[in-house]
Amino acid sequence: MGSDLFAAVPDRVSVYEVSPRDGLQNESATVPLSGKLRLVDALVAAGLERIEITSFVSPKWIPQLADADDLAEAVMAHRASHRPSVRFSALCPNARGLERAKKAGIEEIAVFLSASETHNKKNVNKSIDATLAAFEETIAPAREAGMRVRGYVSTVWGCPYEGDVAPERSIAIAKKLYAMGCYQISLGDTIGAGTPRLTRDIVGRALGELPVDALAMHMHDTRGTALANIVVGLELGVRHFDASVGGLGGCPYAPGAAGNVATEDLAYMLQGMGVETGIDLERLVEAARAAESIVGRPLPGKVHKAGIRSLRA
Ligand code: HMG
Ligand code: MG
Repeated sequence: MGSDLFAAVPDRVSVYEVSPRDGLQNESATVPLSGKLRLVDALVAAGLERIEITSFVSPKWIPQLADADDLAEAVMAHRASHRPSVRFSALCPNARGLERAKKAGIEEIAVFLSASETHNKKNVNKSIDATLAAFEETIAPAREAGMRVRGYVSTVWGCPYEGDVAPERSIAIAKKLYAMGCYQISLGDTIGAGTPRLTRDIVGRALGELPVDALAMHMHDTRGTALANIVVGLELGVRHFDASVGGLGGCPYAPGAAGNVATEDLAYMLQGMGVETGIDLERLVEAARAAESIVGRPLPGKVHKAGIRSLRA
């Protein structure tokens, strides 16, 4: 194994934590607000700097996050007790969601759509074009209000209803989101279908069209390939990765989808590769255990079960 293989791997990457949102949106039992706040506190204590805490979507569509306003208000009310560098964000599908985010004092929103029509329709009840048009009510107004806006493109590695998705489609949508004012676009393997060669194709093309810091990877680990795909992204120079502590989660409109790559598994791998994240691995393991106790079941992440052995830098 020559050193050239990892020559482009960045010295530092940022991890965008999605467990309170992507993780909890698919839980069968509704987690009480106090449990969600405990999870957010544990994530902050573990050194995470970017945390997506909830969604300002329709409570009829996602009842698990119906307490979004109370949660966001509680988190933002304790803003002073958290490190000022921590950024809390929330999903926001429309003008109504933006109003709720503003009222709660949230500083960053995330808009989302799919690269495949059927998943998009099932997720937000609109065509892709109509969804992009509706972003006129969120992206620019949020930016005018001083908020940062992130964008997600789902089903990039495959759609549960339509199968393969041409990378050109996903990248064209990502470019539109960037042009509309999203500072970063997270490409989603919603159903965890990706394998390394496909990842090299998708991410390699995306890096040819977008600045490196405008690109993130959001890899669900349904088939155990998330870390392999992330290594490919690292080799290509990607610096932003989404993750969910314990591997909590899934997408309610992608049947059978498992959670995002477990944050502790990603952080362990990055630490072992000498890549800085600012994460305290021991405290992250505590956060994964807190997540298990909050949802009342074992979670699929591996490192929080196996423990951290001492690592060579
Ligand atoms: P709709 O039914 O077409 O919208 O839903 P509508 O405008 O006709 O409104 C229907 C009802 O919802 C109305 O209430 C609205 O007021 C209300 P009613 O009159 O029936 O009482 N409503 C709202 N309430 C609160 N907040 C709002 C809001 N908007 C409307 N913001 C809509 C359209 C987009 C709202 C709906 O489809 C929705 O909420 N979808 C969210 C789906 C979702 O959250 N999916 C999971 C997140 S995406 C994901 O997990 C993928 C990702 O992780 C990346 C990856 O893995 O690939 C990001
Ligand atoms: Mg997701």
